[in-house]
Amino acid sequence: MDASQIEGDLAVDQTFLTEQQIADRLAEMAAEIRRDYEGQDLLLVGVLKGAVMVMADLARALDRDVEMDWMAVSSYGSGTTSSGVVRILKDLDADLTGRHVLIVEDIIDSGLTLSWLTSNLRSRKPASVEICALLRKPDALQMAVDVRYVGFDIPNAFVVGYGLDYDERYRNLRQIATLAPHVYS
Ligand code: XMP
Ligand code: MG
Repeated sequence: MDASQIEGDLAVDQTFLTEQQIADRLAEMAAEIRRDYEGQDLLLVGVLKGAVMVMADLARALDRDVEMDWMAVSSYGSGTTSSGVVRILKDLDADLTGRHVLIVEDIIDSGLTLSWLTSNLRSRKPASVEICALLRKPDALQMAVDVRYVGFDIPNAFVVGYGLDYDERYRNLRQIATLAPHVYS
């Protein structure tokens, strides 16, 4: 799905980040990650479902040997805000003992989910756990989550596309767009 196909869709407001902007930034982040993990094995842990696109593009941009694994979690909360109480819906297949783990996320909002996830993964005796998030919202800055790689700091708007959904829609948009307020308010 591209911009021309959603023009008639009143729900999607405007392109916030283009496909090209996302690809360019991911290439920069990949270069940084490649340097930082040179000579080390690397396990990418994607958080389903939102991180699917970031993972696919970042892993290929890395242009080195990596392992990819996936986790699905749900945070209990009131729809748009998360509570920090997290449940594992699908756990990793990989044993993390002694591994260098890089969590790949689409967006960090309050930071509660990632804060929980990081300490959960750290308890499994990995060599290291770091976070890579394509997007970060201002509220995340209030939480003590140390995100090593951030694509874009964005304002506090609800965004969709490139893996991010509203009610499971729009994940397959090539760009990231803001959602028209009338849809969710
Ligand atoms: P935390 O715990 O950091 O939660 O508050 C992050 C999760 O919240 C979801 N989220 C969004 N999803 N557009 C979305 O499609 C958004 O603008 C947005 N903000 C937060 C997302 O699932 C993320 O993993
Ligand atoms: Mg997510």
